[in-house]
Amino acid sequence: MPLVPMRILLDHAAENGYGVAALNVNNMEQIQAIMMAAQETDSPVIVQASRGARKYSNDSYLRHLMLAAAELNPELPIAMHQDHGNSAETCLSAIEQNFTSVMMDGSLSADGKTPSTYEYNVEVTKQVVDAAHAVGVSVEGELGALGGIEDGHGAGLSEAEVQEHLTNPDQAEQFVAETGVDALAVAIGTSHGAYKFTHKPTGEVLKMDLIEEIHRRLPNTHLVMHGSSSVPQELQDIINKYGGSIKQTYGVPIEEIQRGIKHGVRKVNVDTDNRLAITGAIRKVFTETPEKFDPRDYLKPAREAMAEVCKARMVAFGQAGNAGKIKPRTCKEMVDFYAGK
Ligand code: G3H
Ligand code: 13P
Ligand code: ZN
Repeated sequence: MPLVPMRILLDHAAENGYGVAALNVNNMEQIQAIMMAAQETDSPVIVQASRGARKYSNDSYLRHLMLAAAELNPELPIAMHQDHGNSAETCLSAIEQNFTSVMMDGSLSADGKTPSTYEYNVEVTKQVVDAAHAVGVSVEGELGALGGIEDGHGAGLSEAEVQEHLTNPDQAEQFVAETGVDALAVAIGTSHGAYKFTHKPTGEVLKMDLIEEIHRRLPNTHLVMHGSSSVPQELQDIINKYGGSIKQTYGVPIEEIQRGIKHGVRKVNVDTDNRLAITGAIRKVFTETPEKFDPRDYLKPAREAMAEVCKARMVAFGQAGNAGKIKPRTCKEMVDFYAGK
């Protein structure tokens, strides 16, 4: 089947009370790992590419790799999503490249670093919603700012500073009404990257009660949790065992994500856990068999390690077993839906 709009996956997830992992990709092996996991678990798929990923992989390679994923897995609904679009131009160029969903992250200015004003956020997000919905493409917005920085993107807020940039529930209601986004990313104390929390997070730093409050006010809006890698201890240990240097850190516990899913979270962004899995697997091969130099000798275990993480998340978030139950719709078919016909 052709790539599907993200909205239909999130609607099905909401109707059936589960969440969908949104998994970042930069290359063929990562796309293959996700598809292996989805095939094995009968899961709907959200693949996402950041601006950095599009630059690294090149839009044409990415577009054709995603077409290959769809061709090889006709039974699985797959959405292709722009992660953290910094401007309307980025989102529109993603749509030209066959993306079926875009995130307009107007919580930051177009430099992708400076927290923006609410007014700017509404204006740029609404502009993207109008253009995207006209062609049936789904839109995610963001209100509040996350911590950390990834490949130049992010305000670089510390664990303490993120508490100053949490999503305001009043503003969230207003933002959704003013922009018409399909999904809303909320800031609840998480950060991008491996270094989210210095201790296992409590409700003081990971504000799951804020999710509950926002969901109460916006029961029909799909909520998105960014920075949702769990940074498992065993993945940190593998990297460190084989010569890496990851300082002790804590991510978002799976059970907290599951609590979010009970309260309106439908899209859960995970990138770091897959990066850790890939790096650990490659380090292991390099350390144990330093004589090897065929990239397949380390990329194959890396791909398998990432597939294991993806599978575990697909099961934990409840998307497993749902691919075959979703009635596919094309972006074209969504045009009438958005036009209210
Ligand atoms: O938003 C963060 C994602 O993990 C993507 O990271 O910008 O380094 O590709 P990136
Ligand atoms: P992690 O760094 O926690 O994997 O978050 C990824 C993310 O939010 C991508 O948008
Ligand atoms: Zn993110």
